[in-house]
Amino acid sequence: MRSVIDILDLSTDELEDLINVALDIIDHPDKYADACRRKKLATLFFEPSTRTRMSFEAAMYELGGNVISMTDGATSSASKGESVADTAKIVSCYADIIAMRHPKEGAALVAAQNASVPVINAGDGGHCHPTQTLADLLTIRRELGRFSDLTVGLCGDLKFGRTVHSLIGAMSRYPGVKFVLISPDELRLPDYVKNDILDRCGIPYTETASLDDPMPELDVLYMTRVQRERFFNEEDYVRLKDSYVLTPEKLARARQDMRVLHPLPRVNEISVAVDRDPRAAYFRQAANGKYMRMALILMLLGIEVR
Ligand code: CP
Repeated sequence: MRSVIDILDLSTDELEDLINVALDIIDHPDKYADACRRKKLATLFFEPSTRTRMSFEAAMYELGGNVISMTDGATSSASKGESVADTAKIVSCYADIIAMRHPKEGAALVAAQNASVPVINAGDGGHCHPTQTLADLLTIRRELGRFSDLTVGLCGDLKFGRTVHSLIGAMSRYPGVKFVLISPDELRLPDYVKNDILDRCGIPYTETASLDDPMPELDVLYMTRVQRERFFNEEDYVRLKDSYVLTPEKLARARQDMRVLHPLPRVNEISVAVDRDPRAAYFRQAANGKYMRMALILMLLGIEVR
């Protein structure tokens, strides 16, 4: 029995296998229509979500399985004081696999340590969001055809943006990858990500507050929302929330084969006028998430489809 809490829980070969299964699902969806018959996925979401929860649920339905769902901690027994550990033990009695989102860093790990079925981290506080990274990787593969020799600009809230932390972990494994970390001073990438991943792996990176300067050299621009829910005060959020707004004028400096990704939801950081640009890949990225979650569910349930 195996859980996925961090993207580093998956080897590079396993990432490749997941991508290949996802691509096969896209090409041959009927082959997979009964793969999870009589299996149940529990989605436990203690924080709001549109894409992650609904794509997990759509994924399980498209695999022929069923879903039981908790969409709000306030309506569960967590509101009476039940611990994450006990919740995980109980839900293991009702479901074959759990996808959990929680505002506290480490909550998914606690769930995995106490569950008797696989647990997938669907986002734990400002820590990580491995299945978003799976969506990001499939998008990069489908849009650019490779992971190596890419310059990846990460822009916005690099401090609290858990998707950024997971993406750095995954992309650091590929040769020739460079990062440009674009953020206001207050929202710089945490030292633990710099030290434990970038420095330890010898990955080149630069830090800047400018979105314009690095634009022409980027292969991928990964925009992020300033994470209002993680701020300690509203004043700081209001001051920083519009630090970067990608517009068609700013995008004019980018290469024609560059791709713009965003985990979504977007607030103000990408103008809607950018949506019409073929380089805007963020809606395709959200669609890719479902296929990678299908592939991950199959892997963790040990189901092979031929
Ligand atoms: N990208 C992402 O996690 O979106 P949701 O918060 O809507 O799940």
